[in-house]
Amino acid sequence: MKSEYELSFAGAPSIKTKLPGPRSLELLKKQNQLETGTRTYTNHFQLAVKKASGSTIEDMDGNVFIDWFSGICVMNMGHGHPEVKKAMIDQLDSIVHINEVPTEARMNFLETLNSTLPGGLRNKSKVMFTVTGADACEAAISLARYVSKKKTIVAFGGAYHGVAGDIVGATGNHHYRDFAGLSSQNIYHLPYPYAYRFPGKVKEEDISKFVVDQLEYLITDPYAGPGAIGGVLVEPIQGEGGYIVPPDDFLPLLRELTEKHSVPLILDEVQTGVGRTGKIWASEHQKVTPDIMCISKSIGGGIPTSMIAYRSEYDQNLPAGFHLGTYRGNPLALAAGNAILNHLKNSGLLDRVRIKGEYIKSRFQEIADDNKFVGDVRGRGFMIAAELVKDKKTKEPAVELVSRAKSTMFSKGLLMHTCGHYSNVLRHMAPLTIEDELIEKGIEIFGESLKEASKKA
Ligand SMILES: Cc1ncc(COP(=O)(O)O)c(C=O)c1O
Repeated sequence: MKSEYELSFAGAPSIKTKLPGPRSLELLKKQNQLETGTRTYTNHFQLAVKKASGSTIEDMDGNVFIDWFSGICVMNMGHGHPEVKKAMIDQLDSIVHINEVPTEARMNFLETLNSTLPGGLRNKSKVMFTVTGADACEAAISLARYVSKKKTIVAFGGAYHGVAGDIVGATGNHHYRDFAGLSSQNIYHLPYPYAYRFPGKVKEEDISKFVVDQLEYLITDPYAGPGAIGGVLVEPIQGEGGYIVPPDDFLPLLRELTEKHSVPLILDEVQTGVGRTGKIWASEHQKVTPDIMCISKSIGGGIPTSMIAYRSEYDQNLPAGFHLGTYRGNPLALAAGNAILNHLKNSGLLDRVRIKGEYIKSRFQEIADDNKFVGDVRGRGFMIAAELVKDKKTKEPAVELVSRAKSTMFSKGLLMHTCGHYSNVLRHMAPLTIEDELIEKGIEIFGESLKEASKKA
């Protein structure tokens, strides 16, 4: 089952210099002088980039890396996908920025997006453009509060919805709130159904019901504590939280309960969407339709854009200017988005993602069976994770081992990133178009690097 365009640089990976190479080092030093020291990615990946193609990235010194990173699920189609590139170039010749007024790119995109939406939203939703993932989530909780006339939003431990404005209150990691000097006022967190580390002694098959029962208690008991619940915000699979796939009954139970109590259900598909899990939207796996859906990352093919899609009846009483911004619905991004969604709808790419995703997960499991530090392997489609622990019984997070394994992979030419409640999860998020050969080479490097890093643990 070959990838469609075979765009990656031949011979990848190829590491020719000590890393970082001399030219990369020069640019990294200059960046340190000119840019904020709060950057994080350059602590992980010490390279300066010259160009990228398919699932490969070439640095300034001619070293070529396999990209299992995709700019954090932004480049799902790979770098320089011909159909996406052509749509952007054609759009460049037409118009690059205009505020809100219709363009062909905008209308084509809206029609195509609507035709892909899950179940009850399909061809019936309203769309509000935003710019970033956090911005979309911010708009989503504002909308839920407005239509429900209630303030408290229930989110989940381990959630990541961004760090801008009020939405930082819904992000599970309190550091981000502390940095912003904000409390999580009007946001209440329940535990996510993270079977590997669920608190207490709830059986795996009962976890979803347990969580949803807690939610019903919050919604119905006036003395429960958090205040009247105006919306539930959830990732169908947790991304930054550790590629945590909840049990299959979680989203359907959540949908049933929120519907029963007329509480808007917001699905944050910023990371799971646009084909990442082997369907265009992750909620399609369980046939769940949210009331509001947050979309970003890969939808713009690398140009920042985001949006919410929501039930059209929510639009009836919304005042003009409800959620504003200068850069909403960028024509380049929407031209790319239209090409991407059409490709996902009409090619066999998603079948490949589902099949190859299961294959990669099975290879990760083989590596885990042979390594006493891999506590859990999980994932769906091309969102696949290996959680590393010091001991499979105590499950103490093996943070240094993860960091050593990541550096070893980097030195061998594989870009693989981490996530997780304790930053102890290695995650595969390669472009969906990655060639078979680079899947194999990546798995080989992943296995070898883990073995080498484990020797020092
Ligand atoms: C699920 C989810 N929601 C929201 C965000 C925030 O998106 P952005 O970084 O564009 O603000 C992210 C970013 O990783 C995410 O993974």
